[in-house]
Amino acid sequence: MKILLLGSGGREHAIAWKLTQDDPSLELVAAPGNPGIASLGRCVPVNPTDAPAVVALASLERPDLVVIGPEAPLAGGVSDALRAAGFRVFGPSRAAAQLEASKRFAKEVMFAARVPTAGASWHSDAASAKLAARLRGAPVVIKACGLAAGKGVIVATTLAEADAAIDRMFAGAFGAAGAEVLVEECMTGEELSLFALTDGEYFHMLPVAQDHKRLGEGDTGPNTGGMGAYSPVALATDDVKQRVASSIIAPTLAEMRRRAIPFRGLLYVGVMLTTDGPRVVEFNCRFGDPETQVVLPLLESRLVDLLVGASEEGGMARVASPRARAGAAVTTVVASPGYPDTPFTGGSIRLPAETDGVVIFHAGTACRDDGTLVTSGGRVFAVTAVAGTFEAAQRASVSTAERIDFPDKVLRRDIGWRELARRAGTT
Ligand code: AMP
Ligand code: GLY
Repeated sequence: MKILLLGSGGREHAIAWKLTQDDPSLELVAAPGNPGIASLGRCVPVNPTDAPAVVALASLERPDLVVIGPEAPLAGGVSDALRAAGFRVFGPSRAAAQLEASKRFAKEVMFAARVPTAGASWHSDAASAKLAARLRGAPVVIKACGLAAGKGVIVATTLAEADAAIDRMFAGAFGAAGAEVLVEECMTGEELSLFALTDGEYFHMLPVAQDHKRLGEGDTGPNTGGMGAYSPVALATDDVKQRVASSIIAPTLAEMRRRAIPFRGLLYVGVMLTTDGPRVVEFNCRFGDPETQVVLPLLESRLVDLLVGASEEGGMARVASPRARAGAAVTTVVASPGYPDTPFTGGSIRLPAETDGVVIFHAGTACRDDGTLVTSGGRVFAVTAVAGTFEAAQRASVSTAERIDFPDKVLRRDIGWRELARRAGTT
């Protein structure tokens, strides 16, 4: 089996790691990959969003499956270009990837399918957006409609804040992503990340994770791409999973089929557990980062079977339900100083030896010509530990993350604090 993997983050390292753990004889080519992935396969310097270059690479390598990691190539139609050239692809079409790329499209689908989510309206001028914010009243959520790398969402606690966010978006703070703005009802509750692998109709769910989007401990400070995650989550009971499957995932997939744009790939469902039950915060059309770094190490089943199943019509019906191993996984992100706004990069890295049950996934790292490993992005590593208990996994993840050495690294030492509080019986 030969796989071409597109992407260069911690998520892609985790996918590469799981694929090669399942099948050590697997041949892996990554574009562009990263120094962690380079220890598992061959990395080639091809831009994953450049569709003609990716098709040319696939034509040269002849992979059995192309796995698309990030959202940008999906939103740009790289999966369509590959399918048109005859390749088997894991990742939705550009039309289906609008579930992530256009928050307005996602709302239209959810409203049509009667999927529980925050009420919302969309606006292409500031005056009508501000009026809608007044009708909702504070707190109110202001969102750039397009892809904004997780930064285009402002939970405004006052109308003045909402107005300022609306003005910033229409002034172009998020480029074309902010040309249309959503004004959304503010929900409250704990958030969960659920992954459904689907062929457009049948789907299987993976272990549930909880992300930590805020930079600071205790969930304070600015929003980031995610500073850590853990799985499983005690809050995600069988009843919650069943409700998400029947009231969110199944009707969304049915509505996409009705629109003749079946969603094939991974549907990431970000939900909030409100007093009215689980409601959708957002859809993504790919694996979450850093959630993947805890979900895949807990997956006992072979990942490639699930990815192949999700790549073609009817494929998932032939794949057995995924099995999860017992125990817990915690991942702690180690970020560059200045992340998320202006990460400082180029710092030299010294890595500790890996210990049993701990994997250091690379994200923003680069290898200089002289062989030194340096930081090259905001999130540099995700350190995952798997252990028999949540507490042991958290301890091992943090202690290895602490031993990664580069100047002024940033990390949270409290990933899973809500789970810990629940286990201690204080919430
Ligand atoms: P998103 O990029 O859509 O996931 O939004 C980023 C974060 O903003 C989410 O993880 C939530 O914490 C928060 N958020 C988004 N939408 C809402 C909402 N309607 N109500 C409350 N919080 C929200
Ligand atoms: N961790 C959130 C995301 O992948 O969008």
